[in-house]
Amino acid sequence: MAAPEAARPIQRRTFLAWYMAGLMTATVLAVVAPILVFIWPPPARGQRFAPIDVSLDKPLDQMQDGDVTRFDAPTQPDSAFVMQDGGGDNAPGKLAFSGLAIKNGDKVNVFAINCSHLGCSVALNKDAKTLDCPCHGSRFRLDGTVQHGPAAYPLSHLKWQPGDNPTTLKIDGIILGT
Ligand code: FES
Repeated sequence: MAAPEAARPIQRRTFLAWYMAGLMTATVLAVVAPILVFIWPPPARGQRFAPIDVSLDKPLDQMQDGDVTRFDAPTQPDSAFVMQDGGGDNAPGKLAFSGLAIKNGDKVNVFAINCSHLGCSVALNKDAKTLDCPCHGSRFRLDGTVQHGPAAYPLSHLKWQPGDNPTTLKIDGIILGT
């Protein structure tokens, strides 16, 4: 029967390599973690991210090209939608309390209602088939891009999925309170 191998002592070089690797990892985490929390802050105490159920005036599958339907975040519990992209006043992570579902060609786009200039609510201009801002006159195409300013950034998409029936959507949002 072979004698058990004696445990090899850890070499000084190996110990130093592991020590340095651990130190570097801790340093990187200490620098990166606060930056990540700044970019994606966690919800405040009592708040939580959750899909928000909203009802549409018209079933999704009956919307015609150019149809726009507005929906609002529920107030019981108090809720808001989380903007996904855009820019200016519509930075990702900002909150919106209303949105628009828009049939554009064979696609449905869902946007926060906020103008990317200073946040007023845009509304459908039926004649021009655009979304116009009443505050300073910005105009957006139905795909959310800017037709003319002062807004410099597109409307912000909301992340969504179909709800339990054709008149409902589930939209990424946050429950703000009770
Ligand atoms: S807030 Fe819409 S154009 Fe200024």
